[in-house]
Amino acid sequence: MTRLGPEDIDLSLYPEGTRLDADGRLLIGGCAVEDLAAEYGTPAYLIDEGALGRRAEEYRHAFASRHPRSLVLFASKSFPSASVIGVTARAGCGTDVAAAGELALALAAGADPGRMVFHGNAKTDDDIRAALQARVRYLVIDNLDDVERIARLATEPVPVLLRVSPSVQAATHEAMATGHDDSKFGIPTPQVDAAIARIREEPLLDLRGLHAHVGSQLLALDQFDAEIEALAAFERFPVYDLGGGLGVRYVSGDHAPSVEEYAERLVSAVHRHLGTDVELLVEPGRSMIARSGVTAYRVVTVKRARLTHAAVDGGMGDNLEVALYGQAFQPSVIDRSGDAEVVEIVGRHCESGDVIAHAVTTVRPERGDLVVVPVTGAYCYTMSNNYNTALTPPVVFCHDGVSRLAVRRQGFDELLAREQLLPTRADG
Ligand SMILES: Cc1ncc(COP(=O)(O)O)c(C=O)c1O
Repeated sequence: MTRLGPEDIDLSLYPEGTRLDADGRLLIGGCAVEDLAAEYGTPAYLIDEGALGRRAEEYRHAFASRHPRSLVLFASKSFPSASVIGVTARAGCGTDVAAAGELALALAAGADPGRMVFHGNAKTDDDIRAALQARVRYLVIDNLDDVERIARLATEPVPVLLRVSPSVQAATHEAMATGHDDSKFGIPTPQVDAAIARIREEPLLDLRGLHAHVGSQLLALDQFDAEIEALAAFERFPVYDLGGGLGVRYVSGDHAPSVEEYAERLVSAVHRHLGTDVELLVEPGRSMIARSGVTAYRVVTVKRARLTHAAVDGGMGDNLEVALYGQAFQPSVIDRSGDAEVVEIVGRHCESGDVIAHAVTTVRPERGDLVVVPVTGAYCYTMSNNYNTALTPPVVFCHDGVSRLAVRRQGFDELLAREQLLPTRADG
């Protein structure tokens, strides 16, 4: 029987700098996950603050060194926490927001609205008012109703970009593809010229450029070439925002382009097709934060039949990536050694689809074991929900051996406080 232990964990999936101490304890940002689990409870989202800051700086430098007039905007939808946005802003990144609430978080983080772009395929008047009031750098027009709404609400010239659906079918899960012909996002290619003309009829709309976003978790860079070529089919503008989308490694066998490779490919295609004198924006979310975050769980029960199910104290309430996209993860029992076993790591929600990872080879799990899932930094916290009254886990920052609570765990009192406890109607 093969034996496994913490030394077998693939640390290349964990935040850069993750290591084992002399006792084999897993250290994230210098903090032992066992200690964090004891202090903050499980499930918990653990963020290596230093790794995130270095990633944001790497992104900023990769683009600025190749194209000085560039701005890397962290797509806050991927982890909408003021503390997280603050780390990326301090590293020199701007912020992509797609709702008034995301804008409020970014402002609370101290991020500069002059380095923010505001998106949304169904912006309400309230969203637009918030964006105008904050004076974000660009408001992105997604549809002709946006044109009418912004023109009606604006009291001074508003710098806008037009989101184009570039007719690129992204090679990713269909739920993450956004740039194809039938996409709900942006103006379809055949209607772009008319939309540009319509925007120019509005004296307060100052059209500066075009935006496109092909999809998320893109592992092949040629899709970005196709996006840039599609944008080059229209008249030239001074600003181009190419969205986000770079994919990441979730399991050991995955391959993803580096930020350097991505920046090189994008900037050279922009220079070739759109010119060297443009302002260039990119909006990475997943590839900015995914690897900086892990989730810690406790095993609640183990059921051994034809399959072994190790059920943990979280699941699709804190990680919807598996149920939504079939995303593969590579969890491990991290706090001891033992015989290897192939197990289904499942959650505690009332759905068979509530799985964290299928057929994982890990230490034969037992009740109470600590399980860590790497690469949960993107789109897990943001999609956390209260299914089965699951409470959103805390977000804990780890840095140089010191942990800090960035977002506290939700409490039942908060759920109960919203209840109006209506008496049963006497008339039935
Ligand atoms: C307009 C826009 N920009 C950026 C992103 C971030 O994409 P990713 O997290 O794949 O980098 C998204 C994600 O859906 C998006 O819709």
